[in-house]
Amino acid sequence: MAQVLPRPVSAEKQVPSYFRSRHIPRRFRGLLLGLFFLAVFAFLIHSHYFLSDPVDPVDPVYFLHGLPKPEPGPNPPRFFEWYEREKRLPQHNPDLPYPQGRDGSYIRFANQGNSVGWGNIMQEVILNAHLAYLSKRTYVFENYTWDMTPGDFSNFQGKPIPARVPLTSLLSGPTAGDPFPSSADTPPAVIPEFFYTVCPTPTIIHRDEVNGLLPGASASSLFHAWIDKLEHIEDRCVEIQRGTWQVFDLWLFGDSSRLLDLWPSLSTSPIMTHFSWSPLIIAALVANADVIHPALSSATSSSFMPHSNPAPLAGLLALHVRRGDYIDHCVHLTTWSAVYMGFNGFPGLPDKFPPPPPYGPDNVPPEEVVRYNRHCFPDINQIVTRVREVRVSLLPTTSLTRVYVMTNGKPDWLRELKDALQEDARREGLDEWDHIGTSRDLRLTREQRHNSQALDMAVAQRAEVFIGNGFSTMTSNSVMLRAAHEYPWNKTRFW
Ligand SMILES: *[C@@H]1O[C@H](CO)[C@@H](O)[C@H](O)[C@H]1NC(C)=O
Ligand SMILES: *[C@@H]1O[C@H](CO)[C@@H](O)[C@H](O)[C@H]1NC(C)=O
Repeated sequence: MAQVLPRPVSAEKQVPSYFRSRHIPRRFRGLLLGLFFLAVFAFLIHSHYFLSDPVDPVDPVYFLHGLPKPEPGPNPPRFFEWYEREKRLPQHNPDLPYPQGRDGSYIRFANQGNSVGWGNIMQEVILNAHLAYLSKRTYVFENYTWDMTPGDFSNFQGKPIPARVPLTSLLSGPTAGDPFPSSADTPPAVIPEFFYTVCPTPTIIHRDEVNGLLPGASASSLFHAWIDKLEHIEDRCVEIQRGTWQVFDLWLFGDSSRLLDLWPSLSTSPIMTHFSWSPLIIAALVANADVIHPALSSATSSSFMPHSNPAPLAGLLALHVRRGDYIDHCVHLTTWSAVYMGFNGFPGLPDKFPPPPPYGPDNVPPEEVVRYNRHCFPDINQIVTRVREVRVSLLPTTSLTRVYVMTNGKPDWLRELKDALQEDARREGLDEWDHIGTSRDLRLTREQRHNSQALDMAVAQRAEVFIGNGFSTMTSNSVMLRAAHEYPWNKTRFW
């Protein structure tokens, strides 16, 4: 059980008012104050040793990478040292010659989404960075922000979480300030603090100056219009207006017929070819190679870059089994007549989801709810059957030997799932699985645990075969990365 301290309170506020009251003789006030702080101190020590999460293993591998040390104590991690490293990136020097420094051109998307899952933010960040690249302006990369309020902590379903996370703790590559490949001839991305140093009064644009003229336009048409718009702005400093709707929004990402015409451009962009995960995520994959796949024990950042053509993790089947809140979400999808997320609609993918007629919220027939649930919230039987179908369909050329389940499911339910998978393999005369691991089996620092969605996406990205949830952005990002690797379409499947 983790004891959680709310946002740090100044010492002044922690002192109850009677310590300052006139009823206490002046000479006792200091003593009482001292005792009070001693009690607070004792409580902190106590909570650290007795109330903090007892299992917070720190694998030696973690330190091999020279990463910031995990933050101790009972609160959610704040990643402060990660921010410090962002500030120290060499591009944050106004005196650098053009196209960097105070003469360079920049674009900041101050309207980047917040309070949504990492899957949603990641797709937006990638498209924003790609637009910056094509419009020849240095990209300004943002925190992944859950809560815009200034405190360090926020909460998710009653659990305390960091209010924001530095992008460099999730991603690496040109989107997160690493150098572009030299052929791209583009300066590295910078943080907002530096942007305001060299751009104290940027030109502010509202997304509707472009998007508003092109309702329902495809991603590629939007890109053309934006590039044209930005070319005609003389100011080297542009900011997309804070607090306004995203340039690339959920309607675009939810609609393959609008999104996918950008793929020829995106897939060859350095934003995609040199995409990778942060050293924090890579360290977690290395430290957990035994749970996921042995080949990960020597993973580096380039093992996830499409540019370096990494082979799939041989024999690994990754399953995205989203539980928890999805029990309601999957039913809501029916009432919206939802279809698969954008990148889950690549034409080469074998599993399609025919959209239902628009029933309207009150007229969804029960068999439609059943159909959605089979693809969105499959039960253990349905999972086991689907796994067998996919496994058998790829024999004899592909032999799957291990399973990794990306999940927020409960440990008991996962134990049942593991048993059912083994039992089914035995009954059907297939080889037993050599190993079945799940997100719950990982040993992670608290920073890694907080960012574990990124870690799971990295596994789905490189698994030999992936069965995902077509309605999920987490799956959609994984599918995008698998497409960037040009892995065979028939090894990317849905429930
Ligand atoms: C990003 O997060 C850090 C740490 O909380 C904070 O100091 C910084 O102001 C944030 N950046 C922006 C642009 O909000
Ligand atoms: C999967 O696709 C590959 C081509 O990428 C093809 O050679 C193979 O036969 C296909 N396998 C199945 C089981 O359809």
